[in-house]
Amino acid sequence: MRPRDARIRPLGSGDAADLYRVRLAPRVMEGTLGLPTLTPDRWRREVEAMLQNPDNHCLVADIDGEVVGAVNLDVGRGRKSHSATLGIMVRDDFAGRGLGSRLLDEMISAADDWLAISRIELEVFADHGAVVGLYESRGFAREGLKRRAAFRGGEYRDVLVMARLLPDKSPSG
Ligand SMILES: CC(C)(COP(=O)(O)OP(=O)(O)OC[C@H]1O[C@@H](n2cnc3c(N)ncnc32)[C@H](O)[C@@H]1OP(=O)(O)O)[C@@H](O)C(=O)NCCC(=O)NCCS
Repeated sequence: MRPRDARIRPLGSGDAADLYRVRLAPRVMEGTLGLPTLTPDRWRREVEAMLQNPDNHCLVADIDGEVVGAVNLDVGRGRKSHSATLGIMVRDDFAGRGLGSRLLDEMISAADDWLAISRIELEVFADHGAVVGLYESRGFAREGLKRRAAFRGGEYRDVLVMARLLPDKSPSG
């Protein structure tokens, strides 16, 4: 499989079962605050809620009809409507083949060119250097360190806050 063979398309209601497998893949669970107790029913309700929410934007990587990755953007409300929170996951057995980069690039383009989002923020485990590097390569900068912010593998771990800002387009900017 080459990354180009994957189709990047919007999330659909039939994708919940495939995405459940992605969500429970060990490295995805570890990197995204997932829990091994997540049930298929609870996950299906989460996917349905995402589909109903007009402020949620989700793209999936589809290989021959099977979804193996996703990127999600949650747009803020009111005075935070210029800002959005990003999350991304690629199933362990498809990682490292360029899919994460493609998903990230497609969502950044959607945010920049269509959604008028000038700030994308995210949180990532501080010791996940390769993932931090991926975000830095796309213009995300480190904003701060949340110490012992999340439990992982039996220990509290530090979490980095990162954000990518577009130049200020306000009249005074
Ligand atoms: C992070 C993630 C989405 C990247 O997707 P991917 O398809 O593996 O990414 P790519 O193949 O496009 O690789 C992008 C770059 O990240 C690096 N990389 C990403 N995750 C890595 C990992 N776990 N270990 C080593 N390198 C990794 C690759 O080496 C590559 O670097 P390069 O472009 O300099 O070669 C995927 O690894 C994943 O789902 N990880 C677990 C969940 C997670 O941590 N999500 C992010 C939470 S903030």
